[in-house]
Parts: sequence; C-alpha cells; structure tokens
Amino acid sequence: MPTVTAQGKTFNCEPGANLRQVLLQQGIDLYNGSAKVINCRGIGTCGTCSVHISGSVSAPNWRDRARRALPPHQAERDLRLACQTQVMGDICVTKYDEFWGQGTEPVWSPEQS
Ligand code: FES
Repeated sequence: MPTVTAQGKTFNCEPGANLRQVLLQQGIDLYNGSAKVINCRGIGTCGTCSVHISGSVSAPNWRDRARRALPPHQAERDLRLACQTQVMGDICVTKYDEFWGQGTEPVWSPEQS
C-alpha cells in the first residue's frame, strides 16, 4: 500500500487512490484560505488543489495540464492538481501559499504542519 506523507502526517492509501480524496479524508489542509469553500470539488477546473509531489503518481492528465497552463499557474512549475492525480507509490506532498497554491512559500511540507 502506498504511503502518503503530508502536513506532518503519514498514512496509507489504496494504489490508484485519488490524491484529493485521500488528503481530505485524512484532514489535511489541501486548500488555502477561502479556497476551502470556493473550489470545484474535484472536477479539475478551479486549480486550487495544486500541490508539489515527490514520488510515484499517475501521469498528468489533460485537465491537470490544461488548468495549470492558465494563470496564475505556470505550466512549467512542478505542481500537480491533487484532484486529477492518482497515488501509485510512496509520496511526499508540499502545499504552497496563495489562493491557488501557486505561491513560492510552503504552507506545509511533508514533515511539518
Ligand atoms: S479541486 Fe478544483 S482543480 Fe482540483
């Protein structure tokens, strides 16, 4: 079973599990500020569930690539949309600041909440 480390917590999930659902089920603060209530609920259009991932996940799908190509995201940035990502192996997750998670300062890291 894959191990997910995020915001100071480590837990397991099923292989292929949706990363957004896994993080929310574990009480991880996936969204910044008012994005907690203003988000697309996982259909890949709002872009606020962006995170940095180290480890084995599914390849970016077209929704992930398309939304992250639009401002304020930058296509070349090494982020992913959690709602469009399946966990394939052990991963570490970092959340950055700003409404869409597009900032440069970590809000939380794998080890620190
Ligand atoms: S929840 Fe909106 S893009 Fe992921």
